[in-house]
Amino acid sequence: MVGLAQRIDTAQGSFEPSPGSSATGPASRSGHPGASPQRAGASLDIQQVSHAFDLDGSTLPVLDQVDLHIEPGEFVALLGPSGCGKSTLLRLIAGLEPPSEGALQENGQPITGPHPSRVVVFQDPTLFPWRTVWRNVALGPEAQGTLKQQRQRVDQTIDRVGLSQFSKAFPHQLSGGMAQRVSLARALVNDPAVLILDEPLGKLDSLTRLTMQSEIVSLWRNQGFTAVLVTHDVEEALFMATRVIVFSERPARIKADFKVDLPYPRHRGDPRLAELRHQSLSLLGLDASW
Ligand SMILES: Nc1ncnc2c1ncn2[C@@H]1O[C@H](COP(=O)(O)OP(=O)(O)OP(=O)(O)O)[C@@H](O)[C@H]1O
Ligand SMILES: [Mg+2]
Repeated sequence: MVGLAQRIDTAQGSFEPSPGSSATGPASRSGHPGASPQRAGASLDIQQVSHAFDLDGSTLPVLDQVDLHIEPGEFVALLGPSGCGKSTLLRLIAGLEPPSEGALQENGQPITGPHPSRVVVFQDPTLFPWRTVWRNVALGPEAQGTLKQQRQRVDQTIDRVGLSQFSKAFPHQLSGGMAQRVSLARALVNDPAVLILDEPLGKLDSLTRLTMQSEIVSLWRNQGFTAVLVTHDVEEALFMATRVIVFSERPARIKADFKVDLPYPRHRGDPRLAELRHQSLSLLGLDASW
């Protein structure tokens, strides 16, 4: 289990020269309809990536020749059976570990470690209980020594996730959905070029979950980052993403890769979503009568 300090450290801590565009000026691209991005999202290239773990002295192959190009500003959802290797792929994209084989690039530059341009949001918000909402969100700028100049940005980001009224609250005074919004704000305050989401809504009740899906989409449309989302929820993937990748059982191979050709805001009752849901469930080996 990775501790909180380590997660923050690895997600934000290494300040090698930026491979991403997050340190450059305002975005000029238009990765998705209706977006008015402040900064460009980065492209990602996953080139023939295979990965294996050592398990009890034997090798456990987890990723098998995964080859994927993600355009700047795409919202890509990854679906696949439990234990197939989705979180492992996210860890490789985040630079938390190197692949056994193959290469990963952000904006054409090799990913050699964690970088503030790629930020991960986990299922568990992992906030510091002794820090207020404001001071939890301020962690990144504080670690980078830029908090003095970024105070307003911290305020704005808290406002963007709808928590201005709670900026002085402590984590135990928040609901689960609110805590997860703090976690999102903590990621977004760093203006990531790539936002990596590992089942960020997995522990929320279904109503909060639906609200948060729309909120994340709206943040993505406003900020223009590239989003890579792992979820077990097929409808969530189809409602949020511009593109869905379906993986096989472990070792994960790409089984399908398709665009969700619907504009935003999307309507959950859209017949096209029902069609894509049917298609995705069959790809996941579930009976098509669902
Ligand atoms: N550090 C590790 N050491 C050994 N094996 C590992 C390690 N991390 C993950 N694994 C193994 O790799 C496989 C893939 O794990 P991963 O967490 O990537 O799956 P996942 O697709 O995210 O699953 P889930 O949907 O349940 O979250 C699992 O079999 C897991 O046991
Ligand atoms: Mg996982």
